[in-house]
Amino acid sequence: METTPGMPSAGIWGVGRAVPARVLTNADLEAMVDTTDEWIRTRTGIERRHIAAPDEAASDLAYRASRQALENADVAAEEVDLVIVATVTPDMLFPATACLLADRLGANKPAAFDLEAGCTGFVYAITVAEKMVASGAYRRALVVGSEILTRITDWEDRATCVLFGDAAGAAVVGPCRAGTGILSHVLGSDGAGGDVLNMPAGGSRMGTSEETVRDRLHYLHMSGSDVFKFAVRAMGNSATESTQRAGLDRDDIDLYIPHQANHRIITASAKRLGLPLDRVVMNIQEYGNTSSASIPLALAEAWEDGRVAAGDNILLVGFGAGLTWGATVLRWLDDGDRR
Ligand code: ACO
Repeated sequence: METTPGMPSAGIWGVGRAVPARVLTNADLEAMVDTTDEWIRTRTGIERRHIAAPDEAASDLAYRASRQALENADVAAEEVDLVIVATVTPDMLFPATACLLADRLGANKPAAFDLEAGCTGFVYAITVAEKMVASGAYRRALVVGSEILTRITDWEDRATCVLFGDAAGAAVVGPCRAGTGILSHVLGSDGAGGDVLNMPAGGSRMGTSEETVRDRLHYLHMSGSDVFKFAVRAMGNSATESTQRAGLDRDDIDLYIPHQANHRIITASAKRLGLPLDRVVMNIQEYGNTSSASIPLALAEAWEDGRVAAGDNILLVGFGAGLTWGATVLRWLDDGDRR
């Protein structure tokens, strides 16, 4: 849907990010499974990834990214009245990581919940937050993508263990002048592709047992080539539709921030959109695929690098388990745009 002209809007007031200290390189992986630095780099674009410490959970990275986002937005934790954490690797199945995060930040009993839409989680979450803030029901939302994917990575499966990393990215969403902030969104899903990318055990379908652990069913399973084909198509379609709904043309897009899953998917989707590579944010080489953290991490890094200016039109596009896809176009705020 596009934002209705003249109606109150919501946009990003500030962003933040966090990654664990430990780095695992492709050379390290060569010593763990039958792979090569050359294969990983050419097939995925990944050179290294950050790996959480054994005692580090999704809420820990979320906390660090959120503190940074609140500081950059100049918003106090007590002002936050809505917290949404997008994750497929919550601290626990319940309670929600968002509740743990809100408490640790010192927020004042906000609405708080987790949202699960695979790697598209952040795009879904920011859309939900935008609607809740633009309606006037909430004033300051904290939207976080945080993942410890390496906890559900099968380190004996070379087809998946080379792909993932841990990270968090956060955004503070607040009201803004109509015509700025989040301009449009497209969200979709196709559950018929649910078995292409999943973690089979540990839910109500297949409870945890000695057998499920032995059969390695508590790890992420993926048919990489099926996801690949779906991704290029879904990203292209949702990005084009979202740009049109924002009333923009591809030449109006200043920065394209796609989910970082594979450099070939990123460049193929940019080509399909007709966007030159200098307008594409790509940091997969440094972090690998960090699922719902990848888009806010890339956005926060682009902002730190001075690649984001007031008035810029930024296109965020994700795809992931579900299968899900989503895109949103936002116009970066000037301080005077805040309401
Ligand atoms: N090192 C060396 N060889 C490998 C490795 C490895 N790490 N992994 C697989 N291979 C081999 C395979 O065994 C296969 O060998 P074979 O031809 O002898 O059978 C060969 O490489 C090619 O394998 P493919 O899977 O066909 O390789 P492909 O070019 O498709 O690349 C990849 C695989 C990188 C996984 C790609 O398909 C991809 O990126 N897919 C998208 C994944 C994705 O985007 N996931 C996002 C969602 S994640 C989420 O929601 C949590």
